[in-house]
Amino acid sequence: MKILVTGAAGFIGSNFVFYMLDKHEDYKITVLDSLTYAGNMETLKPVITDNRFRFVRGDVAKRDTVFSIFKEEEFDIVINFAAESHVDRSIEDPGVFLRTNILGTQVLMDACREFGVKRYHQVGTDEVYGDLPLDRPDLFFTEDMSITASSPYSASKASADLLVMAYHRTYGLPVTISRCSNNYGPYQFPEKLIPLIIARALEDKELPVYGTGENVRDWLYVEDHCRAIDMIIHEGKEGEVYNIGGHNEKTNLEVVKVILKHLNKPESLITFVGDRKGHDLRYAIDPEKIHKELGWLPTTKFDDGIKLTIDWYLENKKWWENIISGEYQQYYDHMYGGR
Ligand code: NAD
Ligand code: DAU
Repeated sequence: MKILVTGAAGFIGSNFVFYMLDKHEDYKITVLDSLTYAGNMETLKPVITDNRFRFVRGDVAKRDTVFSIFKEEEFDIVINFAAESHVDRSIEDPGVFLRTNILGTQVLMDACREFGVKRYHQVGTDEVYGDLPLDRPDLFFTEDMSITASSPYSASKASADLLVMAYHRTYGLPVTISRCSNNYGPYQFPEKLIPLIIARALEDKELPVYGTGENVRDWLYVEDHCRAIDMIIHEGKEGEVYNIGGHNEKTNLEVVKVILKHLNKPESLITFVGDRKGHDLRYAIDPEKIHKELGWLPTTKFDDGIKLTIDWYLENKKWWENIISGEYQQYYDHMYGGR
């Protein structure tokens, strides 16, 4: 089996490559990644010398690049993780989100059509369902809900999902889409809540919590997401959407406090800052479909997953210290300076 995984120098894609090479001994994986600020070759070090693995630096939105890789290798499956993924950055500068997340998806699907790929899988997000109110804990995101969006990021991901379904209906492209809740785990870029809080708390720096900290996210350990995608690409039905999440809702303040407790750091580090524009209130996935149809259930409880994650950041300081010492520092000052 030959698989193309795009965006795998980033957080979830890299974890997915590790998971797949470990689970399927006879699979060959090519990674296509343009190495934006979020992509890091250091992350792929554990597999770089594996002869089942190939890395190509390239942009998913560049037709020539993509088509030439498809010509070289006969891929059976294409899994698209490549994206601009940070909501705050999309509020600052939406353009690149539209290019990578929408046009990149189009180019990849055009190549899949041209070369007869058997399955195109789009890694989507629960943010395409908009948000849920805080005072209705009985409501959850289901696959049949209409698509909406609060940020340029989620609008770009929603557009990509619509395009994927259109390619299925119009051209018969064999597609699947997964929509997952918030992931956490090793190799997440320290601009996202959990690694940002871990890195800053370790340095006794103030911890920026947006608004009141009451917004709710539904956290899933990254390996559980990878296992779900593995199941969908093999057993999922063409043209179907699968929600992925583990009923693990927490307010942002709860998450920050759990991290502080593990690190034995004081809650006085918490600093409430101006809210994110258009900030979604609550995400909560109903994972009934993937459970019933494919037998998927999450295996890592939040208490265990957060400990594994914190331990990983403690043991791999060099990985994230390199990131936050460079250009990222300017990003942090720019984004949080006036809040
Ligand atoms: P990430 O930002 O950590 O990684 C994105 C990767 O894509 C990077 O390696 C980057 O270099 C690469 N990339 C960006 N633009 C590219 C381009 N034009 N061509 C080729 N490569 C490019 O993101 P992540 O958190 O690992 O998210 C991966 C996917 O999963 C995204 O599609 C995201 O929307 C989706 N998702 C993320 C979460 C989450 O909690 N992080 C949850 C649900 C869905
Ligand atoms: O739900 C899936 C989505 O989860 C993915 O599609 C996105 O790619 C991923 O980035 C994530 O989006 P969020 O916006 O939910 O994640 P983020 O880590 O940026 O923020 C989580 C919550 O924490 C959110 O309510 C905003 C808040 N927050 C975030 C940061 C970075 C803070 O309070 N302070 C911060 O400094």
